[in-house]
Amino acid sequence: MNIVVLTGAGISAESGVPTFRDADGLWAGHRIEDVATPEAYEATPTAVQHFYDERRRALADVTPNPAHVALGRLEEVLGEGLFLVTQNIDDLHERGGSQQVAHMHGELLSALCRSCGGRSHWTDDLYDFPPCPRCGMPELRPDVVWFGEVPYGMDVIQGRLMRADLFVSIGTSGAVYPAAGFVQMAAACGARTLELNLEPSEGTDFFAEARHGRASELVPAWVDEVLHPLGF
Ligand code: APR
Repeated sequence: MNIVVLTGAGISAESGVPTFRDADGLWAGHRIEDVATPEAYEATPTAVQHFYDERRRALADVTPNPAHVALGRLEEVLGEGLFLVTQNIDDLHERGGSQQVAHMHGELLSALCRSCGGRSHWTDDLYDFPPCPRCGMPELRPDVVWFGEVPYGMDVIQGRLMRADLFVSIGTSGAVYPAAGFVQMAAACGARTLELNLEPSEGTDFFAEARHGRASELVPAWVDEVLHPLGF
């Protein structure tokens, strides 16, 4: 069985990580153009660094919820049969037990050097422009994919979508491409499609089935459904 799971901010909402487009979301308090584009970084690098430094620090105050843990359990049983791709830049999937996570929008706990291109595990602030551990240049930026940049791992993701038997989208508004188009690609290649989200997403009509409610309840229930016939 080949399952592709796509997650978005909604899966981490109950852990206390703000989403983007809900009423109390990050984009209600910040303009995308000010903090999440290469142009913003060119114009006001320190302000952009502070924005992501704050979010990196906030990881210390959050813990995975039952939805993350359930996906960790699913991987434990299915192994390579599960491909987990997330738009989230937090590390809650990893802390919930997932070992293989494709972070298509990058990671808060990684720094990208604008000089040598190296990606380094990073837990501290970046506002004071520390030297790159690889080349020594003070050119580290958040290793996150900003609007106008190309997401990570698209070749592998597309390959997995093309041979998926089931595509499941969890906690994403379906507002941002290319992730918003994964459901159509998977369906076109023969996968069954399922949406698990608090409310109908923008792309809800593209899914064969949609269940609406909290990720912390819907995801463990769905994982049980998958694992029960396998004897777990
Ligand atoms: N359980 C399930 N779904 C939830 C929950 C919850 N507890 N809380 C919120 N949601 C849903 C919301 O209803 C919404 O549809 O999660 C979705 C979150 O949508 P967005 O805030 O748009 O987040 P996401 O889809 O991950 O955004 C995609 O946009 O700004 C960029 O790079 C950023 O990766 C992000 C991308």
